[in-house]
Amino acid sequence: MTAAGVALATHGLRKSYGTRLALDGLDLSVPSGVVYGFLGPNGAGKTTTMRVLTGLIHPDGGTVEMLGRPFTRRDRHRLFDVGALVESPSFYPYLSGRDNLRALAASGPATGGMRIDEILEMVGLRERGGDKVSRYSLGMKQRLGIAGALLNDPSLLLLDEPSNGLDPAGIVAMRDTLRHLASLGKTVFVSSHILGEVQQMADIVGIIAAGKLVREGPIQELLSSQGVVRVRVDVAEVPAALGALARMTQSTHVSAAADGWISVHVNHDRSAELNRVLAQAGIFASGLTSGSDLEALFLSLTEGAAAADPDGTFAAIDRTRGIIAGDGPA
Ligand SMILES: Nc1ncnc2c1ncn2[C@@H]1O[C@H](COP(=O)(O)OP(=O)(O)O)[C@@H](O)[C@H]1O
Ligand SMILES: [Mg+2]
Repeated sequence: MTAAGVALATHGLRKSYGTRLALDGLDLSVPSGVVYGFLGPNGAGKTTTMRVLTGLIHPDGGTVEMLGRPFTRRDRHRLFDVGALVESPSFYPYLSGRDNLRALAASGPATGGMRIDEILEMVGLRERGGDKVSRYSLGMKQRLGIAGALLNDPSLLLLDEPSNGLDPAGIVAMRDTLRHLASLGKTVFVSSHILGEVQQMADIVGIIAAGKLVREGPIQELLSSQGVVRVRVDVAEVPAALGALARMTQSTHVSAAADGWISVHVNHDRSAELNRVLAQAGIFASGLTSGSDLEALFLSLTEGAAAADPDGTFAAIDRTRGIIAGDGPA
C-alpha cells in the first residue's frame, strides 16, 4: 500500500512533435491514494503526458518522479508498480474477458499479482467474465482494459480518458470503479476533457492548457473559492447595470460582453441579491447563471482550444492508434 506523500510528480516537462510544442514546462504533483483528475481541453497535452509517464516517448526536457524515485529512460522495467491504459486497449475478440486477462498475465512478468476473478469483480465484470470480448460493449472493453492494467496489483494507475465513448451508465460504472480503487489506497491519475466528469470523481484536479499547468488543488476548494455570476440585460441598459453592480460589489470585477451578458465576480450565493439590485434600478434581467471561478476558467480554455485547433487533436489520435495497433493483438 502507498505511504502518504507524492505518488507522481513532473518538473518542467517539455515535449515537441517537430515544430509543435505539446508540453511547455509541465509541473504536476499527485498525492498518494487519491483520484487525481488531469483535466484539459482537446490538444492540451494530456495524452502526451501519459505517453511520457509510461515510457512510450521520451521528453525533450524536465524530470519525472514516480513512487518516490526518479523515472528515466532506463526505468521502463519499473512500470511493474504502475498500471496504465493509454490509447484504446486491444484484446482477442474471440476469447472471453477472463481468458484475455489470463493471456495478458502469462505474457507479462511473473509477479504475485491479484487473482483474475478478484480483478474482474473490482471492475464490475465478474458476471460477464466468461463472455467473448466481441460481445462486450465499449464500456465493458474499457473496464477490461483497466482490469489488464490492474494485473500486477500496481499502486499507481495512469488512465487516459477512460470514459471516452462511454454511455452515461458506463461513465457511472467507470467512476465507481476508480473511486473503489482509490479507497483501496491506490493512486489513480485519470485524464478527461470534461469538467463535470472530473468534478464527480476526483479528489484533486490539475488543469492543463497548451502544455502548462494552470491550476491544481483539491477540487472542493477550487469549486468553492471565487464565484462568477453572469446576468443578461437589454444592451441599452448595460451602462446603468454596470454602475449599479459595481456599487453593490464595491469592486471593479464587473465586465460586459457585446451581447448584454455581464460577468460579476462574486460568490454564487449572492445571485438573488444581485438580481434585486438590478430590479431596484429599474433593470430586469432576461437571464442569470452562476458558477465557480473554475467553471468560468475551464469554459474560457475550452473555447480557446476549439478556436485554435479545431481538428488537430483528432488527427493526433488517429496517428497514435496506428502506432499502438501494431503493438499487440488486433
Ligand atoms: N504524434 C503526434 N504528432 C504531431 N503532433 C502531435 C502528436 N500527438 C499530439 N500532437 C499534438 O500535440 C498537442 C497535444 O496533443 P495531446 O497530447 O494528444 O493532447 P490531448 O490528449 O490533451 O488532447 C496537440 O497540439 C496535438 O495536435
Ligand atoms: Mg488525448
